[in-house]
Amino acid sequence: MKILGSIFFAAYISTFLCKAFATTYYCKDKETISIEGESTGIIHTIASGASSYGNNVDCSWKINAGDGNQLHMKILSSNLEYTPPYTSCFTRDSLFILEGETSSSEVLVSLCGYFNPFEVTSKGQHVYLRFSTNDKNFYDYSGIRLQFQTFGNTSCPPEWRELPVSPMECYKIMTNPTDGLIWSTAQEYCGYSMSNLIVIPTEAIFTMIQAYAVNVSVEKFWIGLNDIETENTIEWIDDTTLYPNDKLQTSSISETNDCVIQDTTKAKWEFRHCTREKFPFVCQRKKVRETKFFRIPEAVDKDNFEPVSLRWVIILSIGGGILLIILSTILYCWIRRKNAARIRSENNRRQANYRPGTSSRGRRGNNSAARNSSAQDRDSSISMRDTDTTSLPPSYEEAQLHHYITKLT
Ligand SMILES: *[C@@H]1O[C@H](CO)[C@@H](O)[C@H](O)[C@H]1NC(C)=O
Ligand SMILES: *[C@@H]1O[C@H](CO)[C@@H](O)[C@H](O)[C@H]1NC(C)=O
Repeated sequence: MKILGSIFFAAYISTFLCKAFATTYYCKDKETISIEGESTGIIHTIASGASSYGNNVDCSWKINAGDGNQLHMKILSSNLEYTPPYTSCFTRDSLFILEGETSSSEVLVSLCGYFNPFEVTSKGQHVYLRFSTNDKNFYDYSGIRLQFQTFGNTSCPPEWRELPVSPMECYKIMTNPTDGLIWSTAQEYCGYSMSNLIVIPTEAIFTMIQAYAVNVSVEKFWIGLNDIETENTIEWIDDTTLYPNDKLQTSSISETNDCVIQDTTKAKWEFRHCTREKFPFVCQRKKVRETKFFRIPEAVDKDNFEPVSLRWVIILSIGGGILLIILSTILYCWIRRKNAARIRSENNRRQANYRPGTSSRGRRGNNSAARNSSAQDRDSSISMRDTDTTSLPPSYEEAQLHHYITKLT
């Protein structure tokens, strides 16, 4: 009896361990690993036994969740080479998650650089993952670790909640990244889980979500309500306008704050700045049918501050450059003219000094009695300039030239 008991105990422990430790599928270069009949598992984009991935690696995984199932993927950690924002992932170390059975299937999301969507959900039962690296790595990176789980196509994904008042929908309060997201990025991240920011048309759903948030200790979160498109036209991200009126704090409506959070401490909705504030957010998806993804409304007010100011920086620096060129040209011409005038006046003075006796001609004013002789000389050099130019003495250069010529001959 004792032996039988311990066998049962060992069997119990081993099944428990099997459940707790999902198989890890590592990267096998130039190979595609096929995964079928597994309800969960871990994919790690490094070779088995390695601590980082190498250069020029190309490995893939093909997961079949089984008939009537879909796949939910959670990115547990991500450590890839730095990729500048808005750079395509194609030439970088990257993981592509595709909807289908081949590497040419529809891309659900591509991961490179520091970008991490945290959760990705498939539409159907097949998912293809492809990890490839370039040859430019100087540092070591531990790659991406992600957990996949299958779930039925008529139920909510793992960790998503169903609210009794709205049984055909699934909800999740997203607390990753931990410092929250701006409103439009929150909607984008919902999209990776085939969902949208939450729409709360009734008081009952409001109360349920409030309780859910309190349960997971989230105080404030983005919801799908906004007046981005038209100031004071408040609508949900699906363009509907129905909501319990007494929840919205109308005092928070302003031209700069166009997106709405639910504040659980006040049990109220409040307008906040769409692009300058970050919060956790609540996503909502259909339990059975595929969820239609709603586009993010285009802001038509002055919210897009950055691109405008960048444009002005460019315009002003080009304008400033042109102005600088014009000013320095003017300055150069002015200096040249001034120099020419100085040389001319020096020549004139020399000429005047040659004939000191001619000072009385063309003198301005009649205060000559008060002047000494040198002042008279200076005065005469000024008056000389526009009077007698016919009988001028030779300049210093001319005199020197003459001196040389006479020496030579
Ligand atoms: C769920 O999957 C099964 C099997 O692939 C399919 O027949 C059924 O139509 C799917 N249901 C929905 C609601 O997509
Ligand atoms: C949160 O909800 C779960 C499941 O609904 C429940 O078991 C748990 O007691 C709740 N926790 C709190 C703090 O309300």
